[in-house]
Amino acid sequence: MAEEAMRQIQWFPGHMAKTRRMIAANLSLVDAVVEILDARIPQSSRNPEMDRMVGTKPRLLLLNKADMADSAMTARWIAAYRAQSSLAIAVDCRSGKGIRQFAPTVQEQLLKALLEKRRAQGMVGAPIRLMVVGIPNVGKSSFINRMAQSKFAKVEDRPGVTRNKQWVKIGSDLELLDMPGVLWPKFEDQSAAQRLAFTGAIHDDIMDLEALASLLLQYLVTTYPAALEQRYHLGDLSALQDGYAILEVLGKKRGMLVSGGAVNTERAAIMLLDEFRSGKLGRITLERPEQEA
Ligand code: G4P
Repeated sequence: MAEEAMRQIQWFPGHMAKTRRMIAANLSLVDAVVEILDARIPQSSRNPEMDRMVGTKPRLLLLNKADMADSAMTARWIAAYRAQSSLAIAVDCRSGKGIRQFAPTVQEQLLKALLEKRRAQGMVGAPIRLMVVGIPNVGKSSFINRMAQSKFAKVEDRPGVTRNKQWVKIGSDLELLDMPGVLWPKFEDQSAAQRLAFTGAIHDDIMDLEALASLLLQYLVTTYPAALEQRYHLGDLSALQDGYAILEVLGKKRGMLVSGGAVNTERAAIMLLDEFRSGKLGRITLERPEQEA
């Protein structure tokens, strides 16, 4: 029943095609690509076509919303990317934590060779141009706003001056090209769809929330049992069959009953998802690097 709920998810291929065209058309204008991921779901929040779209352009992965992810797991993800020669840093664009690493990572690692070449050629004033990509809601606007407030080398008097609709100029040394969200044409990978739904990246109105909450509980009870216990004090759950049975226990514990005494599992599901998404269950990562899984 839980798995069925996710089959209803539909995306809109039109958006995807438009974004793909825009990325292709603008790639030659930038020095590198900043791909923003959700640190709670670094794999599922990646567009599977991005590698092909970006090609050989240098790329920096930003694991955003790191404040909501399990910090030990985030460190493992960054190490796993490094092992594949991909540069990644963890940031929290809401508070600005980690943003300070961005400029040195770009200047001293990502584009080191290019900047040295430019210096050797006497091209000192040329700004670094970066394309910012990521699925909707991952934090692209938050990142751009943060950068507009940050000190990327020298900041002008009026930071964040928009050159046109998509280019955002940060001081005199950096220009960001904002790309609209890239969506999957359809979800081939159901587990990715589920994880995106857990975080709220997919609109709830197209899903069965009880099924979704049951799947989340199944994950939490095996991977983060202490977080679940600390928040809800459900006691020993080992005799229960599945996530739906845990959802019933949770609803009962919170006094969510309908007339006749049955548990209002829909209310319980909405509460669980809300609390998970607002961080009340603590810092949780929903997937681990593949080689460790
Ligand atoms: P987008 O442009 O990629 O679509 O994403 P956007 O920046 O609009 O961010 C989507 C939501 O994620 C926003 O919350 C934003 O505040 C939140 N967010 C972005 N970065 C971080 C982060 O590093 N940590 C946390 N915890 N949240 C982050 P919202 O609820 O839609 O809006 P609001 O609460 O900011 O008003």
